[in-house]
Amino acid sequence: MAVQNEIRRLTAPDIRARKGGEPLVCLTSYHAHTARIVDSYCDVILVGDSLGMVMHGLETTIPVTLDMMILQGHAVMRGSKRALVTVDMPFGSYEASKEQAFASAARILKETGCGAIKIEGGRRMEQTIAFLVERGVPVMGHVGLTPQAINTIGSFRAQGRDESDWAPIEADARAVADAGAFAVVLEAIAEPLGRRITEQIAIPTIGIGASAACDGQILVLEDMLGLSPRVPKFVKRFGELGPSIEQAVRSYAQEVRARTFPSPDNVYSMRKTSVTKLPDYGKGTSRV
Ligand code: KIV
Repeated sequence: MAVQNEIRRLTAPDIRARKGGEPLVCLTSYHAHTARIVDSYCDVILVGDSLGMVMHGLETTIPVTLDMMILQGHAVMRGSKRALVTVDMPFGSYEASKEQAFASAARILKETGCGAIKIEGGRRMEQTIAFLVERGVPVMGHVGLTPQAINTIGSFRAQGRDESDWAPIEADARAVADAGAFAVVLEAIAEPLGRRITEQIAIPTIGIGASAACDGQILVLEDMLGLSPRVPKFVKRFGELGPSIEQAVRSYAQEVRARTFPSPDNVYSMRKTSVTKLPDYGKGTSRV
């Protein structure tokens, strides 16, 4: 007998159909608990390779592995019910060939149960995206600032701030759309360019440091919660969890040192019926 979930999960075609409609709300998550919260408000949960920086304190996303993505992708699937969970393909897992990309994407879909993958790159990934989509892998593209290219671009700086730089970025977004991606992330590009690409292409654009005119927005959850020490200009801190976590940890440390935690409320008393009289081990009796 088929077991149906009460809540239907959004699919890549559902997200694709939202072009020009109500803005798509997207956030990253890497854990079951945060996924549960985010799921109530978001259309897409991205298990981004930013987990390398956020969870592991890495300087870049380059060292992130497929196994790391699969582990966290699985956790996010367990924590969520409705949002389309999209898992990033990490550096080195898809660039060598279309076949390598398919093998990595298939592992992600099979081992996490997620509904889509994301890959960075525009024109250079066009054939790979088409190859994946033809074989049943829903792909979200990612153009503009592509953090996995850090070693060739040199720094995480905004793209397209001179109009003369627009053409290649527009061509990248068009290539991703033409290849059959269901949506594309536009990261750190000049606002008028983000607006223009959104008008030009037929799939939803999801902005992160792009434009309010994009079809949706995404942020890294820990950045917008005030947990990340350094954040780019495009991040708005919607919360300040850092100080409240520190306050909680300080109180805990004080109470442990003062032996006021655990209090009687936090320890287990003996059940009345199980309080038995201990045997009298008189002198010379050994305990066995
Ligand atoms: O890895 C990530 O979190 C991302 C978002 C910034 C879009 O790719």
